[in-house]
Amino acid sequence: MIKINKFTWENLPQPILALAPMAGVTDSPFRRICREAGADVVYSEMISVTGLFHHSPKTQRLFRFTDQEQPLIIQIFGAVPEHFAYAAKYITEQVQPAGLDINLGCPVKDVIKTGAGSYLMKNLALAKEVLSAVRENTSLPVSIKTRTEVGRVTVLDFLDAVKNVPLQALMVHGRSFSQKFSGAINIELIKEAVKKFKGVVLANGNMNTPEQIQAVLSQTGCHGVGLARGVLGKPYLFTQAREFLAKGRYTKPLFSEVVETITKHTQLMQEEKGAHGIIEMRKHLGWYVHDFPGARNLRNQLYHCSTYKEIAEILLENSRRFG
Ligand SMILES: Cc1cc2nc3c(=O)[nH]c(=O)nc-3n(C[C@H](O)[C@H](O)[C@H](O)COP(=O)(O)O)c2cc1C
Repeated sequence: MIKINKFTWENLPQPILALAPMAGVTDSPFRRICREAGADVVYSEMISVTGLFHHSPKTQRLFRFTDQEQPLIIQIFGAVPEHFAYAAKYITEQVQPAGLDINLGCPVKDVIKTGAGSYLMKNLALAKEVLSAVRENTSLPVSIKTRTEVGRVTVLDFLDAVKNVPLQALMVHGRSFSQKFSGAINIELIKEAVKKFKGVVLANGNMNTPEQIQAVLSQTGCHGVGLARGVLGKPYLFTQAREFLAKGRYTKPLFSEVVETITKHTQLMQEEKGAHGIIEMRKHLGWYVHDFPGARNLRNQLYHCSTYKEIAEILLENSRRFG
């Protein structure tokens, strides 16, 4: 593994287009696909510090990455400062990503019932302990990902509470805890967070087109954005957004280019995870072909494949049909 010396959030060209963390999605193959499409920085799936503390092999596997993914930010979650301290030291020494991110926004039941994710954001005293434990056990840049509000705690309250802990970046999911994953993002609170936070701020939530990305950047004054569901089956959103921000227009990828991406992604999944990689690839295939002509039929055919080769052949036949 290459060690990215001196990665700093501030040195990334702005506006920063980041791949936001998504459990079950932002694994090593998808991160490579997104880097190739133009993501400036990519986040891992959230990784349990408690799983790592107890030497879970499943947790260990999530750390695998290639140099191509750098700068890679490993996101960790949990609620026990001692586990965070252990994880920060382990990841810094053994994994060597570009940065470490702490999850303070996950609303999933199994996560919050342990006091982690969003619930850590509203427990200011514990969150401070966690952030300090990480900061004291790593030389890597530390960042956080929050919601705009969890209960009565806003991102602004949170930033006040942890202002003495050196943090380089903040990704703020512009929705409150109670909004979960739907509804508009809170532009005003993100704007206030940009004013308050000394480091890099990335806005996140509800950005599915280059136009929406540009609007959020200009309305909030953020240094960049974190893209999540907008890139499912559409990693080329990174390419289009960059084109749009530079030239005010963007092109739709050719059918054959999308097919090339799917084929490559599938191959990487098989190489990385064997037969199970093809099963995991099914959800991506569904997203990729969602808007293709005859999508339902095509999806059914693809879902029955068990190797990269079978999938590549079906896609090739379709490329000939659709040109
Ligand atoms: C399938 C899925 C998995 C996610 N996993 C994580 C995660 O591991 N860590 C995290 O901080 N956020 C996670 N999120 C939240 C996203 O990073 C993002 O904040 C959220 O989806 C809002 O952005 P969007 O509206 O662009 O999708 C996940 C979201 C989805 C849809």
